[in-house]
Amino acid sequence: MQDMAENRQIRPEEDGERFQLKSARFLARDVLRRAVRPGDAAVDATMGNGHDTLFLCSRVGENGRVYAFDIQEQAVRATEQLLRENGMLDRARLHCAGHERMAEFVREPVQAAVFNLGWLPGGDHGITTHWETTEQAVQSALDLLSVGGVLVICAYPGHPEGERERERLTGFLSALSNRRFNVLHQRFLNAGEGAPECFVIQKER
Ligand SMILES: C[S@@+](CC[C@H](N)C(=O)[O-])C[C@H]1O[C@@H](n2cnc3c(N)ncnc32)[C@H](O)[C@@H]1O
Repeated sequence: MQDMAENRQIRPEEDGERFQLKSARFLARDVLRRAVRPGDAAVDATMGNGHDTLFLCSRVGENGRVYAFDIQEQAVRATEQLLRENGMLDRARLHCAGHERMAEFVREPVQAAVFNLGWLPGGDHGITTHWETTEQAVQSALDLLSVGGVLVICAYPGHPEGERERERLTGFLSALSNRRFNVLHQRFLNAGEGAPECFVIQKER
């Protein structure tokens, strides 16, 4: 099961929080917090309720840009509202489009891209990410990354499509050239079957 509590809004003031070895989502945030600076461009490949988009907008600042994607209107509307409430809508480009089309919309190198796979928390569990389109999007994100940029992916193997996606993703990322990319796979060994996992890829050259 996806942990909805993990998708709660992260406020910019949480930057000063003490590090906790807590969850795949927390680790993903920690990497993004370190990687993204004011003025950067970044991608949220799975907008959902907009929490990652908001977080990235808070990191890139007034002069940065965040490109965000989701196939559901409901997600785009929720994200738009969240960004407006937080005064950050002008930093984002929200696309109601599959992330597999990322290269059509993002025409500049990005410092970070984040994928939070699975379904929309509180939404239709039948509408989930699928490996075939995730693969295309992950490849586009890797192409768009600047040298030193990071791709962060949270996978949820607790449901059949999520397990398939995690397995294929692991194979795909394991095959990346270690001269171009450093690939990390974080998994909580004592969290039981199906616990969320985090993948972090940094482009080295
Ligand atoms: C776990 S949610 C993302 C949560 C979000 N990161 C947040 O912070 O609220 C996964 C999202 O991926 C979306 N999704 C599924 N297939 C997609 C695709 N091909 N392209 C973009 N988004 C997709 C779903 O509609 C869902 O909203």
